[in-house]
Amino acid sequence: MIGVYDSGVGGLSVWKELVSLMPDEDYVYYSDAAFCPYGPKDPSFIVERACAVTDFFIEKGCKLIVVACNTATAAAITHLRAHYEIPFVGMEPAIKPAILHSRSGVVGVLATAGTFKGKLYLSTLARFSGEVKVVEHVGEGLVETVEKGVLDGPEVEGLVHRCIDPMLEAGADHIVLGCTHYPFLQPVIERLAGPYVTVVNPAPAVARQAMRLLKKEEPSQGKGSTEFCSSAEDISVLLRLSQM
Ligand code: DGL
Repeated sequence: MIGVYDSGVGGLSVWKELVSLMPDEDYVYYSDAAFCPYGPKDPSFIVERACAVTDFFIEKGCKLIVVACNTATAAAITHLRAHYEIPFVGMEPAIKPAILHSRSGVVGVLATAGTFKGKLYLSTLARFSGEVKVVEHVGEGLVETVEKGVLDGPEVEGLVHRCIDPMLEAGADHIVLGCTHYPFLQPVIERLAGPYVTVVNPAPAVARQAMRLLKKEEPSQGKGSTEFCSSAEDISVLLRLSQM
């Protein structure tokens, strides 16, 4: 079994890529919605939650854990790898491909406050940004609207405008989705950004990395099932978005 975890429904954007690459595996998806959003929270709290969810997955018999959350990866993956034997796959900030492909020399990154403060993001930025200007923006309100299952409409457009307009005004031709909730808003982001902007979602690359890690193990004996679990009571949005 593969454990997939996020602060809420966002990790479904990674789970979908995992299922399409490895449809015979069995999955346990854990939404930590009782504590969502992680973005503004203290890293030590996120580490605490990551350990609790990891213990839950190990109890279930998982062989691999995908931390399908940029904020949790930034705060906790080093700690998790140091304290558990089970392999972990975390989210990679996809700024490298965006920087390499940018023609305008300006790239926008949309993420949570926690992700922007993370060592992984800062070191990737320092290594690859070079001459390219990176315009960062915290996606205020975006996680909350996705958690409600509201993925389009005038209010969502307003939130998206506030986030991406500064990037577009600076001349960005790529927008990196640095939070796993944001791919649910990708159609709105693409519509408002226009045809000359490429929106980059790192989820497919993360799923390929999980597959590479699993290939070293024995073939799947799974049935292609997913069990959905949550720290919150209401999982109706989780189930609805898993069908999308
Ligand atoms: N989906 C998460 C991420 O990738 C967490 C968002 C949040 O809970 O603030 O960063």
